Amino acid sequence: MESVRAESVSKSFKDVVSGKKEIVHVLQGLSIEVSANEVFAIIGHTGSGKTTLLRILSGLDKPDSGKVFIGGIPRERIRVGTPDVQMVFQDYALWPHMTVYNNLNFPLKQRRLPDREILERVKDMANRVGIPDSLFKRLPDQLSEGQKQMVAIGRSLMTRPKLLLLDEALVHLDPITKLKVRDEILDLQEEFQMTILMVTHQLTDALALADRIGVLYGGRIIQVATPDRLLNEPENDYVRAYIEASRLLPERRRRRS
Ligand SMILES: Nc1ncnc2c1ncn2[C@@H]1O[C@H](COP(=O)(O)OP(=O)(O)O)[C@@H](O)[C@H]1O
Ligand SMILES: [Mg+2]
Repeated sequence: MESVRAESVSKSFKDVVSGKKEIVHVLQGLSIEVSANEVFAIIGHTGSGKTTLLRILSGLDKPDSGKVFIGGIPRERIRVGTPDVQMVFQDYALWPHMTVYNNLNFPLKQRRLPDREILERVKDMANRVGIPDSLFKRLPDQLSEGQKQMVAIGRSLMTRPKLLLLDEALVHLDPITKLKVRDEILDLQEEFQMTILMVTHQLTDALALADRIGVLYGGRIIQVATPDRLLNEPENDYVRAYIEASRLLPERRRRRS
């Protein structure tokens, strides 16, 4: 139950392009407001700055300018990695030397819960997000991409966070697993009274999960709308093109004759 507010957040990176030093302006005065208990999705194309934004909200990176508040408190006053704010990373960030079970139980071990309770909570969460017990002893590099993603999702939920940040968290799941995990995330969101901020390039995931969707383009949010409204009343050419392209993706490419 934590609101999120970003005010005029900007972030640039120094880069070397064709041997020349350049500054890449990724976020350019981006503002968003996510209410407590809301599921908010940010969509945008690859390289639009979605991961950059989530890293700033999670406290891992600092904006060049602008402010971030979580539950009304300035971000820098909240500990990075607090159990109340958890993130699922695009590359999972599982601990490579720890088994699936130990990856899942780590957040609880840190809180020194009794072993019996830890076991029950790990089994319960694994079951809910669809990780079979048979994977518990495996190391992350013995898992498929989708399985790693499920472990990352499970781990992020172990501490019942108030704010969950999801970075392309469903992208490697097959369609059937994805439906189950989407439902489970929404159930857990209600149960834990979580605020969820997800970023994704997949419009379908945003439409399925979010109360509101923000479109990231040119370093800013250019439209915020409910899923229905976004589909029916895109406010500009980019949003229209994004929706069109997302609809066209499932179609087979026609052969050129
Ligand atoms: N640490 C970094 N150093 C230099 N450039 C970066 C760094 N992180 C991200 N970028 C650049 O910033 C842009 C946005 O990246 P990112 O936030 O990962 O996009 P997205 O998650 O939307 O695909 C990209 O052009 C990327 O190459
Ligand atoms: Mg990304």
